[in-house]
Amino acid sequence: MDYRIAPLFVRPWTLNNMSPRLIESHYEHNYGDAVARLNAIRKELAALDPATTPADAYGRLKRDEIAALNATLLHELYFASLGGDGRAVPERMAGALAESFGSVDRWRQEFVALANSLADGCGWVLLSWLPRDHRLINHTAADHNQCIAGAIPIMALDMYEHAYALEFGANAAAYVAGFMRNIDWAAVQERYDDAIKVAPPRPLVQKQFADVPAITVEEVKTMLAAGTPVQIIDTRPKHYSSRAQDIMEGAIWRDPERVDDWIGELSKSEPVVTFCVYGFHVGCETAATLRKAGFDARYMAGGHYAWKATKGAVRLFT
Ligand SMILES: [Fe+2]
Repeated sequence: MDYRIAPLFVRPWTLNNMSPRLIESHYEHNYGDAVARLNAIRKELAALDPATTPADAYGRLKRDEIAALNATLLHELYFASLGGDGRAVPERMAGALAESFGSVDRWRQEFVALANSLADGCGWVLLSWLPRDHRLINHTAADHNQCIAGAIPIMALDMYEHAYALEFGANAAAYVAGFMRNIDWAAVQERYDDAIKVAPPRPLVQKQFADVPAITVEEVKTMLAAGTPVQIIDTRPKHYSSRAQDIMEGAIWRDPERVDDWIGELSKSEPVVTFCVYGFHVGCETAATLRKAGFDARYMAGGHYAWKATKGAVRLFT
């Protein structure tokens, strides 16, 4: 289905220091062109056979599609970000900005600084909600691209020259100041309310080990750095570890199939951390066995490779 032109969200005659002429030209030409370009590219793509089209030509068209799609979506968000008085940030939104940036002022300084960094170039400045991290973030998006994966933009500032040259000439800073005086905070807050309902990406859940506590590699690192006594047992299966070249620094390897042989070496007065290759089964099972025997045991989530992925120290495994 073709993309359709969205009606202009902002009422141009209500803006301070931004004329209807500027908005009309922007909406008609730049937004309108983006929608038309998007539809043309999608039509072209639909007519191609991906199996027989040269891969680089197909890839180029798909990149053009992203640019036209983002130009369409971000222009709609830009026009929906204008129309207020810019000053009165509603309470919930002010609280959200303070939580993510320290204060509304700090958010404003960051946002304006980012906008001014694009004064001689082009691109978007966005305020987005990131469900994975449960926070707001300011960021730029050059070439209608470089958006943050999974982030939901709730406010957009267009820093392409066409957004201001007609009225502000080369004075991008005056345009940025003008935008800040026209932010429709009530609308931004409504989009924020919608965005925070989006669930974060699903984490790995291991239902069969729900009652076995885990510890992250970062927590283990902190324990080791603080000199907290901890017994770290590498329980990678024998068939695997016999080929392994390295082992976590500070860990000792023990055969997970012969727990009875080595359980007597462990102290009950110090916590135990077990881990396997990726953290799915063996380390969890061993931690469960040790817990049943009365040890304060946890498994290290992500196992040996998560430790290595955080650049945790390893030594030669001989
Ligand atoms: Fe634009």
